Amino acid sequence: MKILVTGGAGFIGCNFIYYMLDKYADYEIVCLDALTYAGNLKSLTEALKNPNFKFVKGSISDKAFVDALFDRESFDVVVNFAAESHVDRSIENPFIFLETNVMGTACLLEASKKYGVKRYHQVSTDEVYGDLPLDRPDLFFTEDMKLITSSPYSASKASADLLTLAYHRTYGLPVTISRCSNNYGPYQFPEKLIPLMIVRALDDKNLPVYGKGINVRDWLYVEDHCKAIDLIIHGGIPGEVYNVGGHNEKTNIEVVKTVLRYLSKPESLITYVKDRAGHDLRYAIDPSKITAALGWKPETEFDSGMKKTIEWYLANTEWIDEIKSGEYAEYSKRIYG
Ligand code: NAD
Ligand code: TYD
Repeated sequence: MKILVTGGAGFIGCNFIYYMLDKYADYEIVCLDALTYAGNLKSLTEALKNPNFKFVKGSISDKAFVDALFDRESFDVVVNFAAESHVDRSIENPFIFLETNVMGTACLLEASKKYGVKRYHQVSTDEVYGDLPLDRPDLFFTEDMKLITSSPYSASKASADLLTLAYHRTYGLPVTISRCSNNYGPYQFPEKLIPLMIVRALDDKNLPVYGKGINVRDWLYVEDHCKAIDLIIHGGIPGEVYNVGGHNEKTNIEVVKTVLRYLSKPESLITYVKDRAGHDLRYAIDPSKITAALGWKPETEFDSGMKKTIEWYLANTEWIDEIKSGEYAEYSKRIYG
């Protein structure tokens, strides 16, 4: 089995590569990544020592390059993680999100069709369903809900999902889609809530909480997401969408206070700042379809997942320092002052 993993130098992709190399000793994995600000080859240092793993630098939206790669490598399975993934950056500059998330997905789908890929898996997000109200805890995202997006990021991901399903219906391409809730864990770029708060708290910087901090996200430890994708590419039905999430809803302020507690830092670091434009109120996944169809269940509790995550950041200060020395400093200054 030869798998193309795109975006594997990013957070979830690199966790997926380690998970798969460890579980399947006879699988070959090729990672295609453009190494944008969010991609870090250092995250793949250990994988690069494995003879079954290969890294290729390039963009999923470079059609000729993608075609040549598929021609050369004859992939059985494609798992597309590559994306621009941060909502705040999509508010600043939507166009790169369309280029990568929509056109890049189109290039991969077209090459998958042309070269007879046996399974194309699109890694999507629960954000394609828009948001749920804060005062209706009985409501959850299900796979048959309409896609009503709020940010340029979620709109681009929803477009990619629709295109993926169109390739199934029109051309019979064997596709699957997973829509997962917010992930946390090792190697997450410190622009997202949890690593941002860890990194800033360690530097005794203020912790910027948008609005009142009452927005709710449904947090899943990254390894549980990797396990779900593994089950879907092996046993999922072509043309189907699977929601992935672990009924682990937390307000943002609860999450930030958890980080502070683990690091023994004072709550006085919390600073309420201007709310995000179009800020989604609540995400909450109903995972009953993937549980019934493929037996998936989240295995890592929030407390132990947070402990592992924080310990990883404490043990990998070099990884963080390298990020801080690049484009990140300018981004942080622009967004947080
Ligand atoms: P990330 O931003 O950490 O990593 C994205 C990776 O894609 C980076 O390595 C980057 O270099 C690469 N990339 C960007 N543009 C590229 C291009 N044109 N060609 C090739 N590579 C390119 O993202 P992540 O958090 O690991 O998310 C991975 C996927 O999972 C995304 O599709 C995202 O929408 C989805 N997702 C993320 C979450 C989450 O909580 N992080 C939740 C659900 C779904
Ligand atoms: P984020 O990690 O960007 O994920 P997403 O917006 O895709 O869910 O943000 C998670 C939540 O945390 C979201 O409600 C916005 C909030 N947030 C803050 O309050 N402050 C911050 O600095 C960031 C980055 C996010």
